Amino acid sequence: MRRIAVLASGRGSNLEALHAYLARGGARLGEIVLVVSDHAEAGALGVARARGIAAAAITGGRDDDGAELAALLAARRAELVVLAGYLRLVPPTVVRTYRGRMVNVHPALLPSFGGRGMYGARVHRAVLASGARVTGATVHFVDEQYDHGATIAQWPVPVLAGDTPETLAARVQRVEHLLYPRAVAALATGRVMLDAQGHALWTGQAAASPAAAFALEPLEDDALARTIDGALVS
Ligand code: GRF
Repeated sequence: MRRIAVLASGRGSNLEALHAYLARGGARLGEIVLVVSDHAEAGALGVARARGIAAAAITGGRDDDGAELAALLAARRAELVVLAGYLRLVPPTVVRTYRGRMVNVHPALLPSFGGRGMYGARVHRAVLASGARVTGATVHFVDEQYDHGATIAQWPVPVLAGDTPETLAARVQRVEHLLYPRAVAALATGRVMLDAQGHALWTGQAAASPAAAFALEPLEDDALARTIDGALVS
């Protein structure tokens, strides 16, 4: 599953992180062959074009049957679909086609703080309002409901005194940018799959362990990346 399509509505920082990670790993990990947005002016489309990746905007809409998206994915022979800040519900026909081959990243520890309307700053505001001391990033398979499919990997992030939605978002995004590319590469190379019971099944060692949770903050990016690698790689 090396041919990857990315769906993104926003600025595309997760797309950038995935592209950079795959470029470092070479073609063996996978290649982004298409970026699709439901916003013609999305930053993600600019990120794609600047890197020579095919980019397309779709109109979508209320009674979107998914035909436009399905045709784009088929034309680029996409094998894996990566949602990176895609705000629209993926039409059920496309979900069915890509079951077990479509993933999303959410900026909280699902099943908390997810679902319809829970995106961007709203998620972090809700976390702060709840008084939770830990939040994080979740990578999960996509099913027919928002933020609902089987969890592939999670990484915790502390909520600190004085946090605002912005400071919390930045701390979570840093982890997303390290965790998501590694989880996508694991799926692309067959180290994790959706099993018959509807759960994420890792081959070898299980997904990212939360054991190092509170050691994350002092770590430099490289050290954090190695910690995550150590937990994800068997
Ligand atoms: C990320 O925080 C992700 O968790 C959520 O949407 C945001 C996308 O940001 N699903 P970007 O467009 O990748 O910068």
